[in-house]
Order: sequence, then structure tokens, then C-alpha cells
Amino acid sequence: MAKKGKKDAINEDFSGKDILSIDQFDKASLEIIFKTTKHLIEKKDTSAVRHLLYGKLITLLFFEPSTRTFSSFSAAAKRLGAQTIEYQNPSQTSSTVKGETIEDTARVFENYSDAIIMRHPEIGAPHKGASVVGIPVINAGDGAGEHPTQAILDLYTIYEKFGKIDGISGLICADALYGRGVHSLLKAFGVFKNVTIYLLAPKELKLSKELFKEYTKKGVNLIEIHSEKDIPNDCDFWYWTRLQKERYVTKKRKIHMFRLTSELIKEKAKKNMIIMHILPRIDEVDIETDSDPRVIYLSKQVKNGMYTRMALLSLILGKT
Ligand code: NCD
Repeated sequence: MAKKGKKDAINEDFSGKDILSIDQFDKASLEIIFKTTKHLIEKKDTSAVRHLLYGKLITLLFFEPSTRTFSSFSAAAKRLGAQTIEYQNPSQTSSTVKGETIEDTARVFENYSDAIIMRHPEIGAPHKGASVVGIPVINAGDGAGEHPTQAILDLYTIYEKFGKIDGISGLICADALYGRGVHSLLKAFGVFKNVTIYLLAPKELKLSKELFKEYTKKGVNLIEIHSEKDIPNDCDFWYWTRLQKERYVTKKRKIHMFRLTSELIKEKAKKNMIIMHILPRIDEVDIETDSDPRVIYLSKQVKNGMYTRMALLSLILGKT
């Protein structure tokens, strides 16, 4: 049965905790992850960390498609010496087909492993699993809800470039209604001081009023803009996402997504900044932008996904 306190705020102590929402983190706890990540990246000899999770077995339970989150968690676990049970597509191949509940599935894997990393189309599914098991559960994306470890890797990527998050300003061009990564990231900015975000979303996919209120209340200086013309010239980062088409019915209308193009970069991006994308990119990005040195979505940002997840796993499961 559930260990007391595993769903609580991190408060600089990660040991045995679930990671369900970015709400669990304060600035000091995020800074511990940044420091651990930096340390891991700087280690030249990667075999030196292979003992950290030696003997641990981690279950990856992905009820939704994934390239990076799945593989980077898998790589992170293995680089730290852990082994993994990798279950992709359980909605078609596990007893879920027969009607097994998410709680029961989680309890089964509690018997085999030391942690569960779960992605699921339903908001709150990892929370349900976490509520019935005594091992840590990590939310790897729950429907249009949250994607806390994506926010952590994005924050680290900004921190790595500028040495701070306080005072940063950025453009987020996204499906703000259904984008769980954007939800976690916007919320996370609230723990830092003086962050300004220009949010550009198709009018059909604007942030809900409730979430807009929640994030601004947390202290994010959130400015909704409505056209590329409104993008200021001094953003420290740009962050793009695709339309989350699987989460809405598109048949009736074609939603226009703002495009990332070389012209837009030339016109609106300053020199010392970075351009990120949550990935996968579909058709909202012109391929020739890849050669711009500010573009880091298929390089640094992806790599940081593995290293921040190594940091997180070692902090949650490592020997203290
Ligand atoms: C995102 C997701 O699954 O929420 N992908 C990812 O984890 N990098 C974004 C998306 O699918 O658009």
C-alpha cells in the first residue's frame, strides 16, 4: 500500500517520491535537478555512474505513442545501471483489453519493479496508479494534463544557456489548449521570478481561462498575442509545438498553426537566444531552419531529456 508522503512536494528530498505534477517542485528542488544534470553531463567517464541504480528494475508503461520520453527514460535507466520492463501499447496488448483497471495494472508492476513510469491518454491516470502502490510513479504525460519531466528538461535547457531562469522572456507558440508539455512548463515558470511569456496560439486552441488565471496567479507574466507581428524582438527563447490533433475533432475545420520559418527568425529573433520545439514536429516548422545555430530541438534539447531524466531517477531511486 501507498507509502505516506510519496505524492508530496519535493522540498529538496526526492527519495521515493512520485513525480505527478510540476506543482510538486519549488525553485530549490529544480535547482538540485539542474546541478545533478550538469554534473552528469560533465562526467567524461560515463561508466562512473553505472552503479547508481545497479540492481533496480524500472517499468515503462506507455499507453500512448512516444519516441523521446520512452527512449530517454529507457536510456537514462540503463546508463545508471538499472534494467527496464518496457511495455509500449498496453492498451492493445495487456489485460487492459480485457477491462483491467489502471490501479490493478499498477499494482501488478509494483510486485516486479522499483518504479513505474507511465504515459496515458486520460488526465490523472498516473495519479490513480500512484495512489495504490508504494513505489514511485512518474507521470510521463497524462492526456492534455501535464508532462512534468518535459518541463524539467525544457527548463534545464534554458538554464544551461543563460545560467538562470529568473528574468527570462520567451515566446511559446503552441496548441495551448491541449499541450500538456506547455501546461507544465508555464506552471513551472511560476516558481521563478519575473518570467515573461508571450503566448501565441491558434484562436481555437487558446489556453483555458482557468489555466491562464492559475499561471498568472503563480507569478508568470503571461501575455497572449494573436499574430506573428506581435512577437517582440528580444525573446531569450522560442518554444514551438505541433497541433495535438489526436485530442480534438478536426474534420469540420482546418486550424491554422503559426509556422516557424527562416524569415520569421530573421525578422524577430535576436542573436543570443535559443529555439526549442517539444517534438515531434510535423508541418509547423520549415526544415531549412535546422541549419540556424540557435535551433537546438533535435540536438541539445533532446540530449538534455536523457540527462535530466538520469538526474531525476538517481535522485528518486539512488542510494542516499
Ligand atoms: C509531447 C507529448 O507527448 O506531450 N511529446 C514529447 O513528449 N516530447 C508533445 C507532442 O506530442 O506534441
